[in-house]
Amino acid sequence: MLRRLHPEQPDSFAFTPANLAWAQAQVTKFPDGRQASAVIPLLWRAQEQEGWLTRPAIETIADMLGMAYIRVLEVASFYFMFQLQPVGSVAHIQICGTTSCMICGAEDLIAVCKEKIADKPHTLSADGKFSWEEVECLGSCTNAPMAQIGKDYYEDLTAKRFGEILDELAAGKVPVPGPQNGRYASEPLKGLTSLTEYDSGKTRYNASVQLATDIGDTVKRIDGTEVPLLTPWIGKDGTVASRAGKVSPPPAPAAPKPAVKQTPKAESKPAPKPEADPVLKPSTPLPGQEELASRKGTWRYEAEGTEAVTEEVGEQQPPTLSAAREGGADDLKLLKGVGPKLEGVLNELGFYHFDQIAAWTPAQVAWVDTRLKFKGRIERDGWIEQARQLAAGEETEFAKRAKKDGIYDD
Ligand code: FES
Repeated sequence: MLRRLHPEQPDSFAFTPANLAWAQAQVTKFPDGRQASAVIPLLWRAQEQEGWLTRPAIETIADMLGMAYIRVLEVASFYFMFQLQPVGSVAHIQICGTTSCMICGAEDLIAVCKEKIADKPHTLSADGKFSWEEVECLGSCTNAPMAQIGKDYYEDLTAKRFGEILDELAAGKVPVPGPQNGRYASEPLKGLTSLTEYDSGKTRYNASVQLATDIGDTVKRIDGTEVPLLTPWIGKDGTVASRAGKVSPPPAPAAPKPAVKQTPKAESKPAPKPEADPVLKPSTPLPGQEELASRKGTWRYEAEGTEAVTEEVGEQQPPTLSAAREGGADDLKLLKGVGPKLEGVLNELGFYHFDQIAAWTPAQVAWVDTRLKFKGRIERDGWIEQARQLAAGEETEFAKRAKKDGIYDD
């Protein structure tokens, strides 16, 4: 199929305010003169917003990034993840037709598309809700045949199940993505034959499906306000892309501070001492320095007239409790990534309340991390930020869903 601009184009394109703020924050990730590197995320967000990439959208993004229109069109027309023609208002279906999927029944899925959507690919269904196309391998060959619907993979499909999925989508539901034959991921259908003890840390669904259901935007058009940024991006200039997709201005630069002795480890390996009493400062303006340190694991300071100094964040035991306070323990399972088993481990360590977790410093996070089975989980799932919100009486997206659907990680 020739990938070129659609003959019918709208007059204009504009990001929603939230998406514009998000897009501007993406640009701050790249060094001066390299703004073009943000082209794919910006094209993708434009498509998430509109469903497909229009000529005005491509031109708007080219203007934002200081690129020639043809350069952005080259990117948009090269990757088949970008749609250059109108797609179904509910979903665009991409059927993998490469070897594994073809052998396992991709042609049956295409027959369903022809019957339920339209005889030809890239054609809207009569009600305008769906469109479809055949694509090359989507990397889910062990779960063949499969289809990408919106942003997520539906795997281990049969023609019957695929037809049901289309019917459910047409009725306004969003079926749970992932394997459709009872498999958790890509293990043997009859169950594990090795590593059979490996069950701790299992979420209700496999990691990608769990994330898809947690975010819940499989076939949604994105206006920028509904998808939380799981890890807020802090740009080079200190611009913070917030969870709501809005951008907060760079904070005032941190006050000059002396070299920080954060850990016993740092003390045992003192930083080289400059001759003059230097003014140490973060290498970039850092909003929420502790939060950043907990994500990076190291601090980097640059002293005027001296070499940059990097200090490892070591471990330090946080304050613990021998039992929950009066009124009982908080339900720590409301933290994404904490299930019954991890909650038990946390309680055994002396953590019962959200405010305890919210107060962990980077060194204390490191201490707890080494006592959990899955290193990096605290950072990956953003426990500190979640705990801060829950301790303040706010709800998190995950907590809302967990309460409603009884979803708990573990
Ligand atoms: S062959 Fe279909 S996902 Fe790889």
